[in-house]
Amino acid sequence: MSGVFRLVMNSMIKSISDANVGSKKVFVRLDFDVPVRNGEIEDDSRLVSGLPTVNYLLEKNAVVIAAGHIGRPDGIDEKFSTKIIAKWFQKKLLSSKIEITEVEKLKAFRLNKNFYILENLRFDQGEEKNSLEFSQKLASTAQIYVNEAFGVSHRAHASVFGIAKILPSYAGYHLIREVKILSKTLDNPKRPLTFIIGGAKIETKLPLISKMHRFADFVLVGGELAEQTKILAEEQHAKIAGQKAMLLVADLTKDTLDITLNSVKNFEQVIENSETVIWNGPMGFIEEGHDQATLELAKIIDKKKVYKIIGGGDTIGFLSNKKLLNNYDLVSMGGGAMLEFLSGDKLPGIKALEK
Ligand code: 3PG
Ligand code: MG
Repeated sequence: MSGVFRLVMNSMIKSISDANVGSKKVFVRLDFDVPVRNGEIEDDSRLVSGLPTVNYLLEKNAVVIAAGHIGRPDGIDEKFSTKIIAKWFQKKLLSSKIEITEVEKLKAFRLNKNFYILENLRFDQGEEKNSLEFSQKLASTAQIYVNEAFGVSHRAHASVFGIAKILPSYAGYHLIREVKILSKTLDNPKRPLTFIIGGAKIETKLPLISKMHRFADFVLVGGELAEQTKILAEEQHAKIAGQKAMLLVADLTKDTLDITLNSVKNFEQVIENSETVIWNGPMGFIEEGHDQATLELAKIIDKKKVYKIIGGGDTIGFLSNKKLLNNYDLVSMGGGAMLEFLSGDKLPGIKALEK
């Protein structure tokens, strides 16, 4: 996967394989935002997606400064420490021990002389504020920047956006694959195309739902989103001039913690008539065991021979544990990022890589 890669709207990003990384210090923005429960990583798909890029750099004898965020911590909070990620990489890279150290005054976990993992970037306010000072601090650790975190590329944060403006910047292997497949789907999808949206993060998703109406033929809304947006989504939908998508908002169970199986049946009928299905976000509070509807829906989509794409940390974590992830054409590491990409918006993190 080498060469300058042409994106939608004729912009270009360079693949890491075009960079002269040998013996250089390379800052790699990875996706560490995995679901963690009782101190254990529940699903490591996002970490696995970055491995080919990390291994490539290590084979080239680069010094890898790997960094990312977990969750939305409010300042320094050990619960969100990337130590858990360092331990995961320790196993993968067979490092003998993890040493706590500093890289340009940033706390880091050293696995060997060529591999460092920075502490959760969101412990510093400068990350989300995209402050110039923090971007420069991150940039001072390396000579080259690589973005291998599609899932956070919709955030104009220091490690995604600011640093890419300072250092020569490249895209990691998985990010390129994501952007290629999603661009193709956006440009020329097999229709009818059905969008299924659930989960939380209303503030990110609600504005995107209305944009989906222009791209999708059917929009199915479930989860927490269904409860909070039933009226809003329907009102928004009605307002879209010339909208062609059909909107179906699920009904919630009495305890409001899942959607009804009847709603899943209605969704099934729509899926039956689709050629492409794109899914983001669980239907109920799966983390608290309210996973019946999500599981039903996953089984229906698994069996159906459609072009299928799934995204979002929680959804892929759940499906991967249920062994229902193998039949997808793309498992996107992006939740909000995937939705925003498919709504036609340019993601700041990808824009920052353009030449
Ligand atoms: C995600 O989980 O979608 C990404 O890690 C981005 O997280 P955020 O919504 O907290 O910025
Ligand atoms: Mg997340």
